[in-house]
Amino acid sequence: MTLKIAGGLAGCGLLLAGIFFSLAGKENEQPPKEASLIQSIQGPALYEAYCAVCHGRDGKSRRS
Ligand code: HEC
Repeated sequence: MTLKIAGGLAGCGLLLAGIFFSLAGKENEQPPKEASLIQSIQGPALYEAYCAVCHGRDGKSRRS
């Protein structure tokens, strides 16, 4: 029981230390690259990003 609590505390301590150091290290870093919506601007990727929601990934019209 006490061991479990001690383990939990140690875990929390590590987590906090990790957060602290990751925050502390941020100042010298380059700003993060902007996340892009799509990985590439090749046709299939564009289609998947903009069209597949409605037309499906097979590219077929939903009209049957
Ligand atoms: C918001 C939903 C939506 C999105 C996103 C969308 N479409 Fe459509 N599209 C439709 C609907 C609804 C139709 C008309 C019904 C049909 O043909 O399935 C249509 C019809 C079409 C047609 C004519 C199909 C036919 O059989 O006559 C083409 C070509 C087309 N879309 C291409 C695209 C492309 C390329 C993209 C991505 C740039 C795209 N659409 C994105 C909803 C969408």
